[in-house]
Amino acid sequence: MYSDEEAAALYDLLNPWGPSDDFYLALVLEATSVLDVGCGTGSLLHRAWLAGHAGRLCGIDPDAATLDIAKRRRDIEWKLCAASSVTWDREFDLATMTGHAFQALVSDDELRASLTAIRRTLVAGGRFAFETRNPLARPWERWNPTNAIDIVDAAGRTVRISHQVESVADDVVTFTETTSEQGGGPLRVDRASLRFLDTEALASVLADAGFELEAQYGDWGRGRLTRESPEIVTIATVRRG
Ligand SMILES: C[S@@+](CC[C@H](N)C(=O)[O-])C[C@H]1O[C@@H](n2cnc3c(N)ncnc32)[C@H](O)[C@@H]1O
Repeated sequence: MYSDEEAAALYDLLNPWGPSDDFYLALVLEATSVLDVGCGTGSLLHRAWLAGHAGRLCGIDPDAATLDIAKRRRDIEWKLCAASSVTWDREFDLATMTGHAFQALVSDDELRASLTAIRRTLVAGGRFAFETRNPLARPWERWNPTNAIDIVDAAGRTVRISHQVESVADDVVTFTETTSEQGGGPLRVDRASLRFLDTEALASVLADAGFELEAQYGDWGRGRLTRESPEIVTIATVRRG
């Protein structure tokens, strides 16, 4: 067995600081009050605090084991909840959704409710920055056991993480992530679904929730978005009026 706490602790080892984090950190440092939606272990806000951010930093996540890691950083505000449940009213000038957390908003209802709630948290002209993997690049085709990785966890135990896609239905990909003992059987299997919106669908749900597009990029260097781009990196702004 591999507990929720052990799996949560693996997250930062599997996802070390990288170019996407630099991209968001720059936006966070420009903003006075920031809501990080689906903050996970809280590394973005923690870095911002370490870099001297003197305004309000707040992270939310519905996963208790992951948020418990974030909560070790007591100088930041944390809340256990999903995006659709946030009730702040015009308190933040930037909302972020990093690490493809946006793709966890799978159903139309969850997506609409979450975007509307996030928009309500933002002041007039406030920004919402997030990324979603480009469906045209079909990244799920590489999510198979051939691409398993071995990693040494915090307890010094080597575990193997592998993925297997179960279904691709419209724009929703359902897959398993298996954590195994090296050379042994599975310790835990997590099943998840992610939504892959294309640029048209994305523009439409953002507009419905009261956002307008400020900028869209295809990578973390602010490169042009093309059919082959790995990411759809979006900065949306609360529509005025
Ligand atoms: C891949 S992790 C990314 C974590 C963090 N943003 C990062 O970049 O390291 C996705 C996160 O989204 C969270 N999440 C899932 N559904 C959510 C929802 N409905 N609202 C907010 N966060 C959600 C998960 O609990 C998880 O912590």
